[in-house]
Amino acid sequence: MNLQTRIEALEAEVGAATAGNADEVERFRVATLGRNGSITALFEDFKQVPPDEKRAFGQRMNRLKELAQNRWKDLLAAVEKNTSTQEPTTADPTRPALAEPVGSLHPITLVRQRITDVFARMGYTVSQGPEVEDDHHNFSALNFPPDHPARDMQDTFFVESSEGSALRTHTSSVQVRVMESSTPPIRTISPGRVYRNEAISARAHCMFHQVEGLYVDKGVSFAELKGTLAHFVKSLFGPEVTIRMRPSYFPFTEPSAEVDMSCTVCGGKGCNLCKHSGWVEIMGCGMVDPAVLTNCGIDPGEYSGFAFGMGVERIAQLIYRVPDLRLYWENDVRFLEQFSDGAFRA
Ligand code: DAH
Repeated sequence: MNLQTRIEALEAEVGAATAGNADEVERFRVATLGRNGSITALFEDFKQVPPDEKRAFGQRMNRLKELAQNRWKDLLAAVEKNTSTQEPTTADPTRPALAEPVGSLHPITLVRQRITDVFARMGYTVSQGPEVEDDHHNFSALNFPPDHPARDMQDTFFVESSEGSALRTHTSSVQVRVMESSTPPIRTISPGRVYRNEAISARAHCMFHQVEGLYVDKGVSFAELKGTLAHFVKSLFGPEVTIRMRPSYFPFTEPSAEVDMSCTVCGGKGCNLCKHSGWVEIMGCGMVDPAVLTNCGIDPGEYSGFAFGMGVERIAQLIYRVPDLRLYWENDVRFLEQFSDGAFRA
């Protein structure tokens, strides 16, 4: 076949080329423009063209090369747009679409939701308050004496804002807001972020989450507090888990207690998690101090109440056993995507 005929055949071939996918486009490129491709071969043979014909052949071959390059680009664009230049022969319109990858809820969100669910089933509402708080709601109304160490510069982040003077150091501030704005019976929990001026380490963070609980009604007793918290712990960790209370002190409760639950790792026998005591501390609680009720406009002669407060990261730690608190806030997707409801009782 002489050069002239080969050029014509290739022009027709290039013009008619089709491709249904990227592989076929690549095959076209290799077959024509590739190192051993048909058009590349033409240029090799060009050397034998007599000098007086070189000009005409040269122009025609360059046009062919350009034609092939443009065709290649068009085919590529077509398959990239997923519009095949060929009629699809194998498409199955009944095939389910590929699932889009979806995000996952943050482990702290999952745990907060679990905690909220348990209390919602007991009739608790959810209430929220601002993260920038004033001294009254964060400290004074909760009976913190003016010289209480919690007000210290070392613990509290102070801010200059029209909304308040500090970032709340606990969600107990929401107790005050709820009591000030409603009349008993009150049954509410307040999940939210809290802030403390702490150095960040594996075991402490300057921002963490708490869930505060408050129950105020006529004749509320300490026995109900204990029953409520035992039910909460069993709902979250399993019916075999028990609680114990140790006397403690908080300015806003009297009496106050620290709540421990039996260790879920060793069942109370003693292990590293519970530091060989069989118990792990999970929250503080107590009967709302009558002075706090008065501060919030509730008559302690008529009503009594209990309150409790727990750290969400602490509960999450007991569920997921994440060794370093900082992992929660590094936003490494490889860490975050491991959590789902399914992994909850890991
Ligand atoms: N506010 C306390 C803290 O941040 C937790 C707490 C303890 C809340 C006892 C309460 C309570 O409501 O009764 O450490």
